[in-house]
Amino acid sequence: MKLTREEEGMLDGKSGAAVQKAMELLVALGDLYDAEGMVDIASSHLIAPELLFRPVGMYVDWVRELAGELLQGAERFRVPTTMDPVYIEPEFGKKIGYPSSLMDQVAKALEQGAAPYRRLGLICNFTCHPYFLHPSRKGQHLGGAESNAVVFSNTVFGAMLNRESAPTALATALTGRTPLFGMHLPQNRCGETLVELKDDLKPADFSYSDYGVLSYYAGQVTGDRIPVFCGLRQEMTLTELMHLCAPLGVSAGLAMAHVVGVTPEAPTPEAAFGGRKPKERIPVGKAEMRQTYQRLSTATDEKVDMVAFGCPHATITEIQEIARLLVGRRVNSKVKLFVSTSEPVRVVARDSGLVEAIESAGGLVVSGMCTGPTFLPGRQAAEIGVKVIATNSAKLAHYVYGPGIWLGSTKKCVDAAI
Ligand code: F3S
Repeated sequence: MKLTREEEGMLDGKSGAAVQKAMELLVALGDLYDAEGMVDIASSHLIAPELLFRPVGMYVDWVRELAGELLQGAERFRVPTTMDPVYIEPEFGKKIGYPSSLMDQVAKALEQGAAPYRRLGLICNFTCHPYFLHPSRKGQHLGGAESNAVVFSNTVFGAMLNRESAPTALATALTGRTPLFGMHLPQNRCGETLVELKDDLKPADFSYSDYGVLSYYAGQVTGDRIPVFCGLRQEMTLTELMHLCAPLGVSAGLAMAHVVGVTPEAPTPEAAFGGRKPKERIPVGKAEMRQTYQRLSTATDEKVDMVAFGCPHATITEIQEIARLLVGRRVNSKVKLFVSTSEPVRVVARDSGLVEAIESAGGLVVSGMCTGPTFLPGRQAAEIGVKVIATNSAKLAHYVYGPGIWLGSTKKCVDAAI
């Protein structure tokens, strides 16, 4: 790789051992993908395995060790750096039935785990919708992990970023650089498969879960080829786009999609495909949607124990809709309903009376924690009597195992909670 003098200096240890290690990691990554050089990034978004996956064991020890080595002796993040949610908010954990002593231990561990990142100047937003709090622009190169944030920023803002791992994302924050390959190169961002809606689907009537199911299905079929969604409403809201983008990171290993009329690089289908022909057409109609709903809805028992909103973190409009659906109603005393969001959005929701509206109806609004992995291990969910969860999120439905899942619209989920 061709490195600038400053980058060579980082690699030689002139900026300290942590930056040197980070640069070694990025050079190794760049070599693997034949990157010609590095590119400056505008910001980075981190996943800290010790904060997000602590009880799940999804990240093996070497990842934690590598992140630990990178943090040790580091002085500062070189670009604005944000952070994904933690795996559970301890006070919320107590409210839904986990033992207080366990949650106090968790609080201590989370505080200790976050301390090294805070010391380096972390923007402590602890959210998986960082793009609403720290948005980016077309053509801006970014570093970072969190698949939904990567897909959203590439697809909706036209920013340029790859799906990083936890350690490489941390390395980008410490150096302000990332190797120039993949989504950082315009020629790799062209659409490859055409996702066409059949006449029996009416996007104007789509719920958030419909958007999620559509892209979950498209992701399964397209695999690693960039899909181009045609026929969706150009006036789609950012919340709808968030629900469309999120499942592409889990049903496929994608970093971006094109939504014709929305993605800055896709004013027309021809532009989305970069003048080339689609490699494949993926027709989606009612039958494919139904089949995907069935696949993701793993529950058999109609009795619901928990209703979970906020994967990715709920927007203020989503919270407003949930509050409206609860007006004059009360969540069944045997059901735990919660809405998970970022702290800034929770504060706005609180000041707008929405937290009070949801909580006085028997629900909870929580911030800064992941809605998904909290209940990933079936053992944990069972501990607090949660065997069946209803959600409007296709991504959450994909992630949860152990408890059964019902996937449906926000309205159906609220009705289930009642
Ligand atoms: Fe966010 Fe966790 Fe879902 S990080 S996107 S709430 S799986």
